[in-house]
Amino acid sequence: MKLCVVGTGYVGLVAGTCFAESGNDVMCVDNVVAKVDALRQGVVPIYEPGLAELIRRNVAEGRLSFTTDLADAVVKSLVCFIAVGTPSGDDGAADLGAVMAVAREIARVMDGYRVIVTKSTVPVGTSERIRTEVRKVTKQPFDVVSNPEFMKEGAAIEDFMKPDRVVIGAADGRALDVMRELYDPFVRTGNPILIMDNASAEMTKYAANALLATRISFMNEIANLCERVRADVDHVRRGIGYDRRIGHHFLFPGVGYGGSCFPKDVQAVIHTAREHGMEFPLLNAVEDVNEAQKRRLVEKVVAEFGADLRGRRFAIWGLAFKPRTDDMREAPSLTVVEGLLARGAAVAVHDPEALNEARGLFGDRVAYHRVNYEALDGADALLIVTEWNEFRRPDFPRMKRLLRRPVIFDGRNLYEPDVMREHGFTYFPIGRHAVRSAA
Ligand SMILES: NC(=O)c1ccc[n+]([C@@H]2O[C@H](COP(=O)([O-])OP(=O)(O)OC[C@H]3O[C@@H](n4cnc5c(N)ncnc54)[C@H](O)[C@@H]3O)[C@@H](O)[C@H]2O)c1
Repeated sequence: MKLCVVGTGYVGLVAGTCFAESGNDVMCVDNVVAKVDALRQGVVPIYEPGLAELIRRNVAEGRLSFTTDLADAVVKSLVCFIAVGTPSGDDGAADLGAVMAVAREIARVMDGYRVIVTKSTVPVGTSERIRTEVRKVTKQPFDVVSNPEFMKEGAAIEDFMKPDRVVIGAADGRALDVMRELYDPFVRTGNPILIMDNASAEMTKYAANALLATRISFMNEIANLCERVRADVDHVRRGIGYDRRIGHHFLFPGVGYGGSCFPKDVQAVIHTAREHGMEFPLLNAVEDVNEAQKRRLVEKVVAEFGADLRGRRFAIWGLAFKPRTDDMREAPSLTVVEGLLARGAAVAVHDPEALNEARGLFGDRVAYHRVNYEALDGADALLIVTEWNEFRRPDFPRMKRLLRRPVIFDGRNLYEPDVMREHGFTYFPIGRHAVRSAA
């Protein structure tokens, strides 16, 4: 099948590449010339495990190409995916500017039947808006399909290749046949393709992200309560996770959720509810709890070192909003680093993949370290913000030698408090018992 994917960000690039991998001819379109030039030269602009190799192979085998020429891609494609960004506007509503611009452009150049697919996360009613807009521009036949994406950055290829489910919202049988053919290779193990109307498909994506965000905020509140009543949230997490009605996923407390999806999608649901005369107090609380949780680590630093942090230096391990990505959009690390800088501290940061991103955000206000241990040199304490695997079994004696004081604020509960006591650290986890070094 011939298809184009407009927007070569995390979603578009992964989706386009995976569709090529299953044998389709895919043109990936972006309006950022430098990005397309880089991709043509084999440089992948984002870090996503396994993606670069998959792109190389599919480009070499002639199934995947990159272009800025949307018109050319649309003329050559039966299916046109829209995978551009839908950021939060000032009022929390999803900004559909890019989605609608691409839809109009597709309509302007299409020369026969096209399936126009929204892969971007878009509010309920967007497919209908696209239908109306496209109809204004063209007399050609078309269908609008809602096909929200559930991939996780850091495991996006795996998620796309073996999705838990594929959601397809469509009003027409012809478009459904095309979509089924496209997705059949990805659901061979029996996971379902769920067919529904467009509005339900659009709502499904927001409901999924809103529920996951709710679980995180809930566990963060439980963790904060555990600290007060001297319970251990790690026991509590296991204790509830084995309940099959609850399950183990998304029960890890931490420094709050971030990334390009949860914050904006929670806001978008709140906004959609408001537009329809409904408050959504639960999600308002989820957001408030999350904002407070992003400040928790620095509050713990202040409780230990005082509010005036001038003359102090802190090391940060982990800047990306989660491991296995370089994405720092809405990352809790931003709140942590800015909180320390605002109190006059010096900050030394390390992240396995996000240092380039970080340079664009912090400039020369922090020191950057490629090697995690180097960030510790002379620091008053270490703050762990992202749970990269390589931080799980570090060389504790070496860390102790490098730090000015053996203090760790662990925003991801990577270590056992008892083990940290044995190593002689003062250790502040989230929702678990803090331990103090004897020294
Ligand atoms: N990142 C994720 O993990 C994820 C997961 C599921 C769904 N989504 C949703 O998918 C959508 C895309 O997210 P993303 O993270 O890939 O965004 P992104 O910002 O990484 O990528 C968007 C791309 O679209 C391009 N673009 C913007 N306007 C364009 C235009 N008019 N023509 C051509 N290209 C244009 C941008 O240059 C950019 O490369 C969003 O709606 C998001 O909510 C994201």
